[in-house]
Amino acid sequence: MRTNQPKTIHLSEYKVPAYLVDTVDLRFELFDEGARVHSTLSVRRNPESAEGSAPLALDGDSLKLERVAVNGDDLAVGDYEETGGQLIIAKVPAQFELAIVTWVEPQNNTRLEGLYKSSGMFCTQCEAEGFRCITYFPDRPDVMARYRTRIEADKSACPVLLSNGNDVEKGDLDNGRHFVTWEDPFPKPSYLFALVAGDLVEKQDTFKTCSGRDIDLRIYVEPRNATKCDHAMDSLKLAMRWDEDTYGREYDLDIFMIVAVDDFNMGAMENKGLNIFNSSCVLATQQTATDLAFQRIESIVAHEYFHNWSGNRVTCRDWFQLSLKEGFTVFRDSTFSADVGSPTVKRIENVTLLRTAQFAEDAGPMAHPVRPASYMEITNFYTLTIYEKGAEVVRMIHTLLGPDLFRKGSDLYFERHDGQAVTTDDFVKAMEDASGRDLTQFRLWYEQAGTPVLKVSDAYDAEQNIYRLTIQQSIPDTPGQTDKKPQHIPFALGLLGANGEALPLCFEPGQDARNAPTERVLELTEASHTFEFHGVAQAPVPSLLRHFSAPVRVAYPWTREQLVFLMSHDPDGFNRWDAGQRLAVDVIQSQVGSSDATDIEPRLVEAYRALLNDTGVDQALVAKMLQLPSEAYLIELADSPDVAAIHRTREQVLHHLATSLREELVACYHRNSGGGTYELTSESIARRSLKNNALAWLLMTNDETGRDLALAQLRDADNMTDRMGALRALVNSDYAAERSQALADFYDQFQDDPQVVEQWFSVQSSSDRAGQLPQIHALLTHPAFDWKNPNKIRSVVGVFAGQNLAAFHNPDGSGYAFLADQVYRLDDSNPQIAARLVSPLTRWKKFAPAYSSLMRTALERIRDKPGLSDDLYEVVYKSLEG
Ligand code: TRP
Ligand code: ZN
Repeated sequence: MRTNQPKTIHLSEYKVPAYLVDTVDLRFELFDEGARVHSTLSVRRNPESAEGSAPLALDGDSLKLERVAVNGDDLAVGDYEETGGQLIIAKVPAQFELAIVTWVEPQNNTRLEGLYKSSGMFCTQCEAEGFRCITYFPDRPDVMARYRTRIEADKSACPVLLSNGNDVEKGDLDNGRHFVTWEDPFPKPSYLFALVAGDLVEKQDTFKTCSGRDIDLRIYVEPRNATKCDHAMDSLKLAMRWDEDTYGREYDLDIFMIVAVDDFNMGAMENKGLNIFNSSCVLATQQTATDLAFQRIESIVAHEYFHNWSGNRVTCRDWFQLSLKEGFTVFRDSTFSADVGSPTVKRIENVTLLRTAQFAEDAGPMAHPVRPASYMEITNFYTLTIYEKGAEVVRMIHTLLGPDLFRKGSDLYFERHDGQAVTTDDFVKAMEDASGRDLTQFRLWYEQAGTPVLKVSDAYDAEQNIYRLTIQQSIPDTPGQTDKKPQHIPFALGLLGANGEALPLCFEPGQDARNAPTERVLELTEASHTFEFHGVAQAPVPSLLRHFSAPVRVAYPWTREQLVFLMSHDPDGFNRWDAGQRLAVDVIQSQVGSSDATDIEPRLVEAYRALLNDTGVDQALVAKMLQLPSEAYLIELADSPDVAAIHRTREQVLHHLATSLREELVACYHRNSGGGTYELTSESIARRSLKNNALAWLLMTNDETGRDLALAQLRDADNMTDRMGALRALVNSDYAAERSQALADFYDQFQDDPQVVEQWFSVQSSSDRAGQLPQIHALLTHPAFDWKNPNKIRSVVGVFAGQNLAAFHNPDGSGYAFLADQVYRLDDSNPQIAARLVSPLTRWKKFAPAYSSLMRTALERIRDKPGLSDDLYEVVYKSLEG
């Protein structure tokens, strides 16, 4: 068991850097046995620092120091100190040249931060603190420098040598080696540094910017993936155009590169001019990727590209400001996806993620504000709160200001801060100054953790035709934060009349209803507000928090009647979906503990029947509405959830729906199958989604027609969405023989494609039929499984613990013990992944006692591991103590 605690870093202790670096000159000698890194820095004292003659302290991690010299003079051992992850030089001049040589071993780097090898190729990951695994450096984002990078390697093993910026020189060296030199003219923080060296092929294209410059676009992949880049390239060009049209932002270098690597801790990385991607977030063909994967690739390519302005040109002062770049960039990429696809569907997907996972995070032991006040290990703070809630916060600013003032604000932000490392407060200030709006109270969204709860009640006064709506807000306590202040919340609403008509919203008695809007954004700033709507001739049905105008929970005593009404009448598509979800949640919750399926709410069945029959409405919305709330969401909503009971009940309701709607499902299947060539339009995506949903439901009831349709679809499909849809439906059915056969055939066919094999793992790990523990163990010893590859680990261990909830929460505790075992073993090779994987255990306090004590035991075993990493320490300790 570990006795010393990792250091806690506090925002309140921020100090400007004592030294600045103007230029970084790097020379990498890459060999099979390791890499020698020569770094030459021009360093000067920071005039703004109070610590005039402080020692120079550089960060370093797992480095072998070979040389350190100041102004050309080698330092003797007594002139510097290597201690606690730092290189400290006590006496340095006010301005000097610092030369450092380090030796690192990328081939043994399993943490995948710094310089490492993936499928034989050298690559880097420097965010957040990986650059210090390459060389000693003031590794903090407010030190921005211009980089020049020379890479030397064996020409046949590494014909392609890439780094940030433009290539300025190349040539051959002795012994079959060669070099390329890259120069990046834009000052950048060290976390945006990147290097790639390997045997890669490129897909090339060009983009003409709005000012007429031609940009050279390249996607580099291993030769076997050469045919899988088209979609990413199309997405990139779409994103570049969109950023010009929407934000007036043009790309700034002459070349933009993307590289796909198989071993990667996260989705992708926005390194200046050289984005590095997890293969699964860039490679796709119709035959190998599902619609979901195509959409994910489109949004991640856009996300990383958008960072070029929101993150790179204007970066973060310190890591507490992470949401400055991530929240804003997620907001930008989700607006982009909405614009190029179906806005309602995109909003539904965002909100589903937020309500299922971010709300859970905000209610758990790791809850933190969008701008955290402290951390131990920054990689633990790449969270849904920073990304998704952070994006919602920016979205609320957009709602409060309106599109034109928001654009003015973003222009001012870029104009003021181009080339700087700034804070979330600088962002809000630019929005304030450009719009004239006071966002003082709004800033609490960055400071207070926890999901606000809005308790809504209403009363209709038939005599005076007044409808009164009372909204009370409260914010639950979170670790270290109590007694929170009310926040500034934009609350969009409408009122519906008995026939579904949108009623005018008049705040004043006698106001002319013809000019009154039918949707308004109320601004909540106090603990309680009552709004009066005049001239309301009948008791209305309120449509609350339209398009999810704020990341809050709404509690209102809807009747099932009202929900059914909103499902078919609300002019806001998002709220139609939301009403359907609320109805389904209510039905499932009231059914938990009952074994009698005959009393399942008939209005739910009829509402779904109406949806299945209504071919006139947006089929993309229908496809979403037909998906029942997930187990994870039902668990999130419950106090002391009994997971087994929730699982059983949800299945029971699903089974009841599928049985009652059998004919409609078969008709829906046929109506949406066939239909010509594969397209990626929202209409075709909706058709495939409807068809595959219908198939999954049919197979829930052991329907033979369903089984035959699935088998035929698996055989004949011309795309992975349909193939995977059929496979998933079979795997989750009781047709055990067909399931095994289908899984075996599928593997035979696709075993050479890692991205498909990952999906094949996931489909099993997420299934309560195919993913019980003995089967999961078998997957871990499968030849395609690889303990060094995060994608494989996530697709088996992560998916099991995050999606196969009944098996993970097996009342005997075996699922928890299993996860603890895997986390324990991974902590030595890849602590970042271990700390992310442990997350399902951290919410132990939420569960019914029989579950929570077993979860706690599993966590304690991890806590007591000798040599526990800082990453895992923080998560495990905070969740045991918080
Ligand atoms: N900045 C990246 C993004 O959101 C995130 C990222 C990629 C990352 N790789 C990482 C964060 C490794 C921490 C560690 O686009
Ligand atoms: Zn990002």
